[in-house]
Amino acid sequence: MSIIERAAGKLGGNQPPAPYVSSPAFDRREETDAGSVIEAAIEKAEASFYQKPPEPVKRPVRQSAPDEDGPATIVGSQRGTVNLARLKLAGALTPDAGRSKIAEEYRLIKRPLLVNAFGHGNTAPIPNGNLIMVTSSVPGEGKSFTAINLAISMATELESTVLLIDADVTKSSVVRYLGLEADRGLLDVLRDPSVQLADVLIKTDIAKLTVLPSGRGFSHATELLASSAMKDFVRDISSRYQDRIIIFDCPPLLATSEASVLATYMGQIVFVVEAERTPQEAVKDALSHLVDCEHVGLVLNKAPTRTGGGDYYGYGYGYGGYGEYSQQQ
Ligand SMILES: Nc1ncnc2c1ncn2[C@@H]1O[C@H](COP(=O)(O)OP(=O)(O)O)[C@@H](O)[C@H]1O
Ligand SMILES: [Mg+2]
Repeated sequence: MSIIERAAGKLGGNQPPAPYVSSPAFDRREETDAGSVIEAAIEKAEASFYQKPPEPVKRPVRQSAPDEDGPATIVGSQRGTVNLARLKLAGALTPDAGRSKIAEEYRLIKRPLLVNAFGHGNTAPIPNGNLIMVTSSVPGEGKSFTAINLAISMATELESTVLLIDADVTKSSVVRYLGLEADRGLLDVLRDPSVQLADVLIKTDIAKLTVLPSGRGFSHATELLASSAMKDFVRDISSRYQDRIIIFDCPPLLATSEASVLATYMGQIVFVVEAERTPQEAVKDALSHLVDCEHVGLVLNKAPTRTGGGDYYGYGYGYGGYGEYSQQQ
């Protein structure tokens, strides 16, 4: 039994109420081992989510009136045009995806994240729920792919701005994936007090999507992620942008100890597992670095489809699903 299956097994519960049901596109998916496991994980995760008592959280009132771009401080001075053709070629989500399979799958993945972040009905938001870390055990599992797709999905269907931060500072790829150009970013803000966040943010032409590039790298750059400067930075953006989703594309947990430190600042973790490639031991080991994080969701990525056609993925990859994982028995 895989770690994902056991994770699914820990998520007990009944069917969630409408409208939080699996998307039709997902339900119609051809039955595969990975697919059925993920489907079970999603059903159980959503059900268990609705059984949790809401945590009382007092959310401060926003300082400024909302407008289309949000406050000037998050907009930044730079503008960037996303290369949609490049994204499509990589099999990623684009704002015009409509009700395609990939769009439906990301709707399913983002739903519990958004409910945790902003609350829904009688459910209160969780502390720092708008700070979402995307990580995995090892490199290449699809963290950046997942972070970008989630950011695009949320930005194009949300009333609020999404800030996507490239925090995988030694293997940064967000800017390249999106076809943007940038030299400065997070590392510069952390190292040089004269660099203002607004100077290095890129407001993209995808409505409500702003990107913070990783910035100019240097040896041991990853160590900055566990520094007090990073802690202050996360605290700062967390208090300034409480009504925004902030997605951190982070290094893999088994590659750098700093990633687990970063995880402790986040409200939610999206843990990506590459189907049929990442060893169970690696997944278990990586999850053990997240014991202090209450809200960890699993995404099984690159799950092959039975047809092998991969409809629109190009590579023949399928996409997994999302289930919240509890490390407490
Ligand atoms: N679900 C997917 N479908 C198609 N390609 C994918 C998928 N997930 C990842 N990839 C591809 O796999 C490669 C590694 O993904 P990436 O997100 O860069 O990994 P990581 O950020 O974890 O190192 C990239 O070429 C990416 O485009
Ligand atoms: Mg990456």
